[in-house]
Amino acid sequence: MQGKEGEGLSLDLDNIPQHIAIIMDGNGRWAKKRGLPRVAGHRAGMKTVKEITRAADDIGVKALTLYAFSTENWKRPKDEVEYLMRLPQEYLLSELNELIEQNVQVRMLGNKDQLPDYTMNAVFEAQEKTKQNTGLVLNFALNYGSRDEMLHAIRCIAQEVKNDNLDIQDISEQTMNQYLFTEGLPDPDLLIRTSGEVRLSNFMLWQLAYSELWFSEVYWPDFTREEFYQAIFEYQHRSRRYGGV
Ligand code: FPP
Repeated sequence: MQGKEGEGLSLDLDNIPQHIAIIMDGNGRWAKKRGLPRVAGHRAGMKTVKEITRAADDIGVKALTLYAFSTENWKRPKDEVEYLMRLPQEYLLSELNELIEQNVQVRMLGNKDQLPDYTMNAVFEAQEKTKQNTGLVLNFALNYGSRDEMLHAIRCIAQEVKNDNLDIQDISEQTMNQYLFTEGLPDPDLLIRTSGEVRLSNFMLWQLAYSELWFSEVYWPDFTREEFYQAIFEYQHRSRRYGGV
């Protein structure tokens, strides 16, 4: 692709990462810098979600996984948690029709148990209305923690062994993959984290084993399509060896 939207990059459309995962960080600092409440940063971050979803879809990314709320985020002030829990509903209210038109399939990964009904209902409706879609898989990690996910998978596998449906010797990486929330999706090829923090924060620890990591100094609300394509451009110039030579 030659210079899409003037950013001057030449992306190789035959080497687009199939699955991109993003830790959308820096909303609070973005707001603080402007003397605004933290939730204003989350609202601005929602706009970036719209922009980056379109940008991913435009170049044929197959799956985009966005870390929207972690199992640790419950420790935040009650008002902020409530605001974050309302965002999926608000986002889907304004975007669902376009997502349906764009053939996007909405999914969620995370522990559904603690989520309020209004959050779950909105996500459930979006999942139902888009489940036949065959385009971009837009995956929201909500109440997601990688250790929590792995424990869930291990408990399911242990139950299968206990029920004599599975032999311990037959437990493989594929078995794990089957019981993770990402079942059926390829591992992310590329992980992006914004805001200058350089850590994984309990995000997709199993699935990111061989992903390329890319960090940006920019706060999530300021993250643009151009920067997203820059990450992909750099990904395309890396050499992935998966432990080989
Ligand atoms: C981290 O920034 C961001 C979050 C915990 C929430 C991310 C949520 C959004 C971007 C909006 C989600 C939108 C939809 C559609 C569900 P932070 O608050 O930790 O920022 P800080 O590190 O600067 O304090």
